[in-house]
Amino acid sequence: MDAPERLILGIESSCDETAAAVVAGGRRILSSIVSSQIDIHRKYGGVVPELASRVREALDQANIALADLDAVAVTQGPGLTGALLVGMTYGKVLALALQKPLIAVNHLEGHVHAVILETHLAARHPQWPAVCLIVSGGHTVLYHVISSAPNGDASRAKFSYARIGGTRDDAAGEAYDKVARMLALGYPGGPILDQLAAHGDAKAVRFGEPKMKSNPHDFSFSGIKTAMLYHLRRHPELQPEIDARQQALARGECTADALRQLSSPATLDLVASFQRAVVDDLTTRTLAAAQQHNARTILVSGGVAANRELRSSFESEARRHSLDVYFPSRALSTDNAAMIAAAAHPRYLDSDFADATLNAEPNLALA
Ligand code: KG4
Ligand code: ZN
Repeated sequence: MDAPERLILGIESSCDETAAAVVAGGRRILSSIVSSQIDIHRKYGGVVPELASRVREALDQANIALADLDAVAVTQGPGLTGALLVGMTYGKVLALALQKPLIAVNHLEGHVHAVILETHLAARHPQWPAVCLIVSGGHTVLYHVISSAPNGDASRAKFSYARIGGTRDDAAGEAYDKVARMLALGYPGGPILDQLAAHGDAKAVRFGEPKMKSNPHDFSFSGIKTAMLYHLRRHPELQPEIDARQQALARGECTADALRQLSSPATLDLVASFQRAVVDDLTTRTLAAAQQHNARTILVSGGVAANRELRSSFESEARRHSLDVYFPSRALSTDNAAMIAAAAHPRYLDSDFADATLNAEPNLALA
């Protein structure tokens, strides 16, 4: 008889958001609640009650009681200390009260599991080794990933990692957010720029490629941000529409459609060119790393992995090089707790538990 599917509650609070999820057997999402309404809980009484109600919602949606849980998993780091502490303390107290094991998860490993988590739904099985690009508002980093179960069930596999490159300055998502702020296109910048880019000419403006002297697998996104600033200085005729969009944002008109109405063809071209430069850079460097490390598979995760052009660019380049490429569903691309519960599952099977001395590690590394 098969072992029963273990029910793990995941808690994730490494950044602005608080999230809770219940995952069965490391691969079946019973519920996944994410809230990033930082202002709402500031107004109505704090982060802990906010998290408590996310946990309650996650249990209700999964249709289970606290006592049904087999373990509680929390993000140990990396992230903002205060935010991490909230989730970790809550998880510790809950595990203690329920007398269930507590499992510590690295947020970055969570992003790796976000890619693997639902592959079985499409009857796809990643081949190893892989190169994983984690690309978000906080991270842009490349790992070589080996699985303990080379052709087996990824929900039971433990992975080992070697870091092969990463950003020297800004994360790619951070560049999206900063450029969106310069252009008055709202926050977070990624989703809006992604939609607007589809309406512009990506060849209109040239942004130079960053040159990486010592490690060709490193990234840099501060140069393109500065190039954008200089471009706007050279084109003062774009200022009136920036002001108009600023006013629209202040009135709460922040949908992509509304902002597009206030954007000239020159702005749409600029956005399309920016996105093309970022996407080309991410794709080219990741593909080169995969080839150099004889990877069979590319995994792309993190908020920027939701980007449409990034997905199609990776898909066509990977096909050209006979590599497989995997992305999380859009909901699992950005921060969530299902990926934390999934990453905890192989640790549960190994009885790799944390105790009450567990500390938040804002700079926790994966490798
Ligand atoms: O993974 P995530 O939710 O949080 C961090 O760990 O940072 O990623 C958020 C980041 C933001 O910078 C946001 O602008 C970016 O992901 N993002 C996107 C898209 N959706 C979210 N960037 C480009 N295109 C998108 N469609
Ligand atoms: Zn993240």
